[in-house]
Amino acid sequence: MPLEQVLTSIPSGHPDEALARQVNFDRLPVHVAIIMDGNGRWAAQRHLPRVEGHRAGIDAVRDTVETAARLGIRVLTLYAFSIENWKRPAAEVSTLMLLLKRYLRSELNTLLSNDIRFRVIGRMEELGRDVQEELTTAIDRTAKNSGMLFNIALNYGGRAEIVDAARRAMESGLRPEDLDEERFAGFLYTAGQPDPDLLIRTSGEMRVSNYLLWQIAYAEIYVTETLWPDFRRTHLLEAVLAYQKRERRYGGIKAPAAIGAQ
Ligand code: FPP
Repeated sequence: MPLEQVLTSIPSGHPDEALARQVNFDRLPVHVAIIMDGNGRWAAQRHLPRVEGHRAGIDAVRDTVETAARLGIRVLTLYAFSIENWKRPAAEVSTLMLLLKRYLRSELNTLLSNDIRFRVIGRMEELGRDVQEELTTAIDRTAKNSGMLFNIALNYGGRAEIVDAARRAMESGLRPEDLDEERFAGFLYTAGQPDPDLLIRTSGEMRVSNYLLWQIAYAEIYVTETLWPDFRRTHLLEAVLAYQKRERRYGGIKAPAAIGAQ
């Protein structure tokens, strides 16, 4: 039972217990995507170098992955490194890569014991060989897991993904008249996965930053002022509860039964 699973990780009487009890487990977002933002600001507030914000961000990643899996979220996609992030100072980029490798090494057992399947979306082949090896190990070792799918977007850009998908569609020999939205989605990095229902962005910025551009067509967007290194179970529960209060219309109108019930 997801509620019991979540409650086992919450100390009795903790405010998160009340939040968890409000969650409607029949209406969970199937896919949650997160733009982890605000690491630099978190560090600046403490007069620390930016990389300390990324280091602290790892604890938020750990907590979010475990909470999402316990809640019963089917797919979680975290934006860890965009194609544009190569423009950052070399030392910051190499620290991010180092943190990623360390995270994978230290968390692999947790991923395995929580039945989490790990995947990468993005141009993985352009990453350093050492990073690719670590990623491939985690992907291969968790490939048979059937619980939550955990995607990390790395060297990822939404427009690049669409271009890569278009190339693959052309190379597949598909006739242009046979191409439709469903078939095109099958050429994206997220082929076979449901689109995000909920997109969370931390640190208050109102941008989608080239993230999952195709897939977020109908996602509910939730922006929190919380900086990523401070993001924990409480914030994920709050985001899920806010999502459950929204009325999703997919460009249509309210269902007649719902109108009648008012
Ligand atoms: C945005 O903060 C965050 C990033 C560019 C990187 C996110 C990476 C991590 C949390 C650590 C590694 C990830 C994993 C999955 C192990 P920013 O630096 O743009 O913050 P700012 O907008 O406040 O400057």
